[in-house]
Amino acid sequence: MIVIASENGRVGIVEAMRVLRCGGSALDAVEAGIRLVEDNAEDETVGVGGIPNLLGEVQLDASIMDGRRRTCGAVGSVRGYAHPISIARRVMEELPHVFLVGEGAERFAAEIGAERRHLLTEKTANTWRRRMLEAMTEEELEHLAEDPNLRRWVSVTMDPRLAGGTVNFIAQDAKGNIACGVSTSGWAWKYPGRLGDSPVIGAGNYADNRYGAAACTGLGEMTIRAGTARSVVLYMQMGLDVEEACIRAMKDLQELQPGGGVDIIALDHRGRPAAVSNEKVGGTYVVMSDEMDTYEERPRILVPPLIGGA
Ligand code: GLY
Repeated sequence: MIVIASENGRVGIVEAMRVLRCGGSALDAVEAGIRLVEDNAEDETVGVGGIPNLLGEVQLDASIMDGRRRTCGAVGSVRGYAHPISIARRVMEELPHVFLVGEGAERFAAEIGAERRHLLTEKTANTWRRRMLEAMTEEELEHLAEDPNLRRWVSVTMDPRLAGGTVNFIAQDAKGNIACGVSTSGWAWKYPGRLGDSPVIGAGNYADNRYGAAACTGLGEMTIRAGTARSVVLYMQMGLDVEEACIRAMKDLQELQPGGGVDIIALDHRGRPAAVSNEKVGGTYVVMSDEMDTYEERPRILVPPLIGGA
């Protein structure tokens, strides 16, 4: 049994392993670990306390995938609910669909009695207001919601360092089953309705018991373009080991312009982990196997972008 996560998964990985040790499934472990990150208001990239969109609204995205039969569920642009990962799981389990967004996702969340929560904290509300007032007047901010040309403010979002914080969890349970989950508040100050890769199966999340699983953080616009999580698993299917598969998928991104920061974690079907980053010198991820008392923080392999692009 093993759980791996992006570095901000520290707050949930011990609980995820406890779930596995108590006989829970890989899906249960992934959901339990991510719920704790979604509850962590200190993490401004996921769940409660996530950085809002241009209008100051927090819109959450999440997906979950079951490697047994490659079933999956995803939600996008969900407002007012604490745990999009659990809503995504219920989409997978209760609907013939994979992906719900916006009002439909919120309607479904209400139907299943998902926990409602005010997602904007005082801290993130103040940060949003300060950031907007660097670009616009008080009066423009007051009327922003009705602005017929909201896209003119999209330059406010153009800080790539704030593009793609997210949490990834991958678990393999005692039966050898693999599950993968991803949750995010997305790109800071995004245009309302913008979806990144986290809820897009194949881009930010993919799991297949036969080969392994992969998940991404960073600039979702990049991994959507390259189908990155699916690529990692496909490279493993083609015979590359988990580390080589991650490096190869990262190299596929090197030619994309404009580029941006991307991190990948992956686990193969034998329970071997790997992680890469294209920008974080000293970047890490967390790993906890059944034999460990607590998690280990391990380095990511750096696969930098080509200088000046392709
Ligand atoms: N990777 C998260 C996002 O782009 O929204």
